[in-house]
Amino acid sequence: MENFNFYSPTFFAFGKDRELETGSLVKRFGGSKVLIHYGGGSVVRSGLLDRVKASLEKEELPYIVLGGVRPNPRSGLVYEGIELCRREKVDFILAVGGGSVIDSSKAIAAGTIYDGDFWDFYSGKRIEEALPVGTILTIAAAGSEGSPDSVITLEDGMFKRGASGDAIRPKFSILNPALTQTLPPYQTAAGITDILAHLHERYLTNTKEVEVTDRLIEGLMLTMIHEGPRVIADPDCYEARANIMWAGMMAHNNSCGVGRSQDWNSHNIEHELSAMYDCAHGAGLAVTMPAVFRYVMDHDVMRFAQLAVRVWGCQMDFAHPEKTAAAGIDALQWFLVSLGMPANFEELGAKEEDIPELVRVLCRGDGRDGTISGFVTLDEEDCTEIYKMMV
Ligand code: NZQ
Ligand code: ZN
Repeated sequence: MENFNFYSPTFFAFGKDRELETGSLVKRFGGSKVLIHYGGGSVVRSGLLDRVKASLEKEELPYIVLGGVRPNPRSGLVYEGIELCRREKVDFILAVGGGSVIDSSKAIAAGTIYDGDFWDFYSGKRIEEALPVGTILTIAAAGSEGSPDSVITLEDGMFKRGASGDAIRPKFSILNPALTQTLPPYQTAAGITDILAHLHERYLTNTKEVEVTDRLIEGLMLTMIHEGPRVIADPDCYEARANIMWAGMMAHNNSCGVGRSQDWNSHNIEHELSAMYDCAHGAGLAVTMPAVFRYVMDHDVMRFAQLAVRVWGCQMDFAHPEKTAAAGIDALQWFLVSLGMPANFEELGAKEEDIPELVRVLCRGDGRDGTISGFVTLDEEDCTEIYKMMV
């Protein structure tokens, strides 16, 4: 295991009706004027936004509202939010929604008190300071409610990049699983896929002797395999939603990733798909992960075989461990398809003729040097082959 720091100071309020405590939590974490940031309207239709406003009013906290965050959140609304917060002297950003709303809120929080262009943070500059952010999560997926990360799409070029820093870890996150019961099945499945992807990106490591985090990851994967079909069959099942919601947080606050190298090639390869085609991030990952894993499997067949045996219940073939490894990847893809996720470019809405452009932006965009690195370093030729495997 490698040396590591782990700092994860988010306060979690988990369970039914916890959004009624929003006002007191904002006060507890120092807010006196709030920007409520939300998405395309699900929180208006569900009545959540009204409950959140009432909770702030109960604590006599003034607020302003900025809706309209789209999935795969765009830079344009971030610039608008930064201007608004400066003008209105906002000192607390409250995200009400999914990963896209939370990431847009984090970008506004960092950008409002920064002299330069907020995109600097998405071009490699670490975020050291930001306004405090609180979240009320409505979809278990991205894990942004417990992560120090934010992913934004730059409208000038339509590519997606991430920024990071402990300053944008939410001060508090309210996780009420009942709020996710209104999700369409496709979004529920996309969220489950993203959670599984966050676990795989950490499982694929070049660090040896990391049994504790291996076992944590395997346990969370088994939870998703158990609860995923249950929630698709019964969307109102609170207990399944609760297990998925907490697993989603655990999968991405890095408690499973400490002390080990991580991958993130599937995420990088997928981000170009959701930037170009505006598909759900999780749906893009359902197509990307099996292709990446098949392509890089030979780098460490035994790691994939271990996953296949421990998580998918495959029989170990000691003479041909590559067969066991491949069976595990097949099992993952069948599982994702059984949840309703796409299996190829066509089902995702992607086009084979765009592969050269996808590879160019992936490997050369925004100052990259022609490769992406993770479990394995991949060059433009490798990435071209991987995208072709998804067709
Ligand atoms: O916009 P509204 O109307 O709210 O609808 C949303 C949106 O259309 C809908 N939705 C959310 N909660 C709902 C609901 N509909 C009905 N009932 C509810 N309770 O679901 C749609 C998707 O929402 P979105 O926020 O985009 O989903 P998700 O949480 O999957 O976030 C995806 C974004 O997170 C980024 C992805 O790249 C993508 O841009 N990621 C962020 C990470 C991070 N910050 O740590 C890590 C991830 O790997 C990921 O890259
Ligand atoms: Zn993700």
